[in-house]
Amino acid sequence: MKTLKAVKTLGKLEEMTALDPVVDIVRRAVRKVLRPSTAKDLLHGVPMGHPAHPFLVQLPTGAFACAVLLDAVPGTERAARVLIATGLAAVVPAVATGLTDWSDLHPQQQRVGLVHAGANVLATGCFAMSLAARLSAREGGKTWALAGLAALGGGGFLGGHLSFRLASGANHVEAVPHQVPAGWNHLALLEEIPEKEAQRRTLGLVPLMVWREGATVRVISDECSHLSGPLHEGTVSGSGLDACVRCPWHASEFSLATGEVLRGPATSPAALFQVRVSDGRVEVCLPGAG
Ligand code: FES
Repeated sequence: MKTLKAVKTLGKLEEMTALDPVVDIVRRAVRKVLRPSTAKDLLHGVPMGHPAHPFLVQLPTGAFACAVLLDAVPGTERAARVLIATGLAAVVPAVATGLTDWSDLHPQQQRVGLVHAGANVLATGCFAMSLAARLSAREGGKTWALAGLAALGGGGFLGGHLSFRLASGANHVEAVPHQVPAGWNHLALLEEIPEKEAQRRTLGLVPLMVWREGATVRVISDECSHLSGPLHEGTVSGSGLDACVRCPWHASEFSLATGEVLRGPATSPAALFQVRVSDGRVEVCLPGAG
């Protein structure tokens, strides 16, 4: 089956550098307001273990779509007004989480994300006009709502492209357990691993980040779960159970002892390997691998 023309056009949108000046202005504004913090992590969805934005767009999308449906049912004008007002209120957290995620993406993703946001702003404006018309008993409330739904559909299509084709919110280490051999695997001799110097090694197809402190060796997947940044090129701070690595791309932080996310934008943990050292041989095992 041939790829739809619309999808091919999206490929061009990804490379449309003419959007970059606007992307730059918006990204700088968002980053100025949202410094790395617990509040920013909440907006990314770090405590939930996956992005908060897809979950929060359900309410405005559903409310707006239902309002348009009710417009075809006599006697439901008041319910349609309530739904549109609810949708408009619910846009606020959806926009906040979306902008937060968007500010830490690759340029191609940000270009598509900018147009996705533009379509949704247009949709929100249409529904606001629709509500204003309905409240003042003017004509055009239903037409504005229909236009808003069309814009919302376009925005949703772009959001799907961003999430699935461009994997902007995906867990980039999901495949790791399927790519490493099951059981214990030889990694290196202990003496081959330098102390307190992050190293990249591979196991099967999977790059690993290896960190050694004395006889203790920590091993996690080297690709950042956010967008595959090389963690071994990041900065390690702390020691022992408090040791963590900061991704060089967007500053996500992962515990080297547990693999958990200590700071977003990543929301999924690193794949954490069990390590045993015997007779100077370092072996690793990923529970659930194979
Ligand atoms: S790739 Fe974005 S934080 Fe690591």
